[in-house]
Amino acid sequence: MRGWNDDPFTKKARREDFAARSIYKLEEIDKKERILKGARLILDLGAAPGSWTQYCLKTLSAAHVVAVDLSPLEIPEDPRLTFLHGSIEDVDIVGALGGRKADLVLSDMAPKTSGQAFRDVALSLTLCELAFENAKMHLKPGGGFVVKVFMGEGFETYREMVRKAFTKHSLFRPLSTRKHSREIFITGQGFKG
Ligand SMILES: C[S@@+](CC[C@H](N)C(=O)[O-])C[C@H]1O[C@@H](n2cnc3c(N)ncnc32)[C@H](O)[C@@H]1O
Repeated sequence: MRGWNDDPFTKKARREDFAARSIYKLEEIDKKERILKGARLILDLGAAPGSWTQYCLKTLSAAHVVAVDLSPLEIPEDPRLTFLHGSIEDVDIVGALGGRKADLVLSDMAPKTSGQAFRDVALSLTLCELAFENAKMHLKPGGGFVVKVFMGEGFETYREMVRKAFTKHSLFRPLSTRKHSREIFITGQGFKG
């Protein structure tokens, strides 16, 4: 039987020295939406083990990333990276941003799944709402947002909330998303402030 380790995106991530296969989701979103373009200050929520942060640091040579996660990052330290270890509800994001507003807020946050679809969707939605609160609080006008959402109860209401806050929004299901996963990404560009 094929295991996760045989997955072509997992193998590619290992070959290319990325901490997780999730990198290819952000890469695909970025290639289509140019969401990273010109970003100098990025807030990466649910960043561990660190492949989205790696992608941002690699793609944008002048950018600084503030990464937050309950778990430690598994990537080399970098002077352009500030890591906050803890829940996004507890850490000092304003302090880490140095009083500045971010150009981009990313959230790949996911709860520990229980296998019970209804419960997992509800837990994920709570994290998405927290991510959106953070986007509203920390984004500069014109900024961008990427958030992972599990399809299910509450999805359309959440999507509508994001749509209203940005001049442009889109839905994205990357090729590297596993076949049976309920995940989908919402992007917002041109934060209305
Ligand atoms: C799919 S992983 C993120 C993968 C990451 N984007 C990457 O490319 O390496 C989801 C992460 O969300 C984090 N997470 C879940 N709830 C969180 C919370 N309340 N605060 C911070 N991080 C959280 C988990 O610890 C987990 O590491």
